[in-house]
Amino acid sequence: MPVMAPINLVFRFKPVTAPQPWSQRFSSPLHPAIARFNASLSFDIALIDYDLTGSQAHARMLGQVGILTTAEAETLVAGLETIRQEYHQGLFQPGLDAEDVHLAVERRLTELVGDTGKKLHTARSRNDQVATDLRLYLRDQIDAIRQQLRTFQEALLDLADAHVETLIPGYTHLQRAQPLSLAHHLLAYFEMAQRDWERLGEIRGRVNVSPLGSGALAGTTFPIDRHFTAEALGFAQVGRNSLDGVSDRDFAIEFLAAASLILVHLSRLAEEVILWSSQEFQFVKLLDACATGSSIMPQKKNPDVPELVRGKAGRVFGHLQALLVVLKGLPLAYNKDLQEDKETLFDTVATVRACLEAMTILLTEGLEFRVERLVGAVGEDFSNATDVADYLAARGVPFREAYQLVGRLVRQCTERGLRLMDLTLTEWQELHPKFEADILTAITPQQVVAGRQSYGGTGFSQVQAALRVARDLILV
Ligand code: ARG
Repeated sequence: MPVMAPINLVFRFKPVTAPQPWSQRFSSPLHPAIARFNASLSFDIALIDYDLTGSQAHARMLGQVGILTTAEAETLVAGLETIRQEYHQGLFQPGLDAEDVHLAVERRLTELVGDTGKKLHTARSRNDQVATDLRLYLRDQIDAIRQQLRTFQEALLDLADAHVETLIPGYTHLQRAQPLSLAHHLLAYFEMAQRDWERLGEIRGRVNVSPLGSGALAGTTFPIDRHFTAEALGFAQVGRNSLDGVSDRDFAIEFLAAASLILVHLSRLAEEVILWSSQEFQFVKLLDACATGSSIMPQKKNPDVPELVRGKAGRVFGHLQALLVVLKGLPLAYNKDLQEDKETLFDTVATVRACLEAMTILLTEGLEFRVERLVGAVGEDFSNATDVADYLAARGVPFREAYQLVGRLVRQCTERGLRLMDLTLTEWQELHPKFEADILTAITPQQVVAGRQSYGGTGFSQVQAALRVARDLILV
């Protein structure tokens, strides 16, 4: 499948020379700077494989319905295949004079097969052509990203499997709240990725609709068969309205929104890894494969990978905003503004893919949880305070009353430099007659986590069950 050409904002193509198809209508050539300004070839060359495939389907359809002879259609299909080979061998390097990938291909086709090449564009416009190319491109990229999400989810599950019994402080307001199974914490990211995977699947359904045959905006006078081309290109549906077919970019915006959410999720995980790897937390050790040093401070090991992921989220959000703004004021149907859809889309795809890959590597080869630090952390705080209140509430004391009693207790312990676990049974019973010997074990971190057996909670048996469900989910 096609390799994406690098996005290159510097025009690296030959200067403008050859005449455009519409040169007969115009009396003087385009200003060279305007030709450069107008051209999209430097980036839409990334669509070439989809453009060729789309054109081959169109040519076959023209032959099928008799608009062209079978021999002409075959000539076009073969010529387009030759261009594909030339391109992948580096032999076809169109200049900017072609303006965009569509015109570059058509021109080369005519060079290769002669006048028959000039028949390719019968009953078609670049407007339905570019919408078709973009949808084919995005459909492939969505499939690849969903595959990457699965690999990322597997990495989370492998890590979670290894850490069901590892406890980690759970936070609200970044203050210690209640301890958690580390697996439970990691499975929260699994759920986010699962939603991302599902969301992209839903969007794929709306991407996979054929605009080909919409013509410039109004359809065509030729007896085309839109169902033939749609089927040849693997589209599940044919777009119902030709105007919408050429002017809709909702599918791209939906993708950018889904990509933004993927980056939100990756960035939150990245932020946690950054915190966890700090001197202050020391929950995670960064391994050399994914960390870098400082050029001046010899002791440093920096979390570049999660920092970059966190940083790159911003550009993806920017692309979403950009395309929303491009679209909002556009009258129907095609306007050249729509050419601005491509770089936002291409850069988003490249960024999401790179971030998913990097975060997956970070999870599998780039970090180690420091279990001894985590064990120490969950034992040294008051994150079992809710459990003391729950203990009394379960024995008939109204929860709010129990809560206030424990609040006073935490203040006293803090003043005396004690943890709840340091209190003796006598001290507990002086506080409230409902306390019995089992309070001493009910508030160990292990028991505090194990006790949260409510569905979806962090209790070990719940987490084990969640892991099994998660493994099944990613088999789909
Ligand atoms: N390069 C153009 C784009 O990316 C292709 C469509 C041009 N259509 C037109 N009517 N000028 O949007």
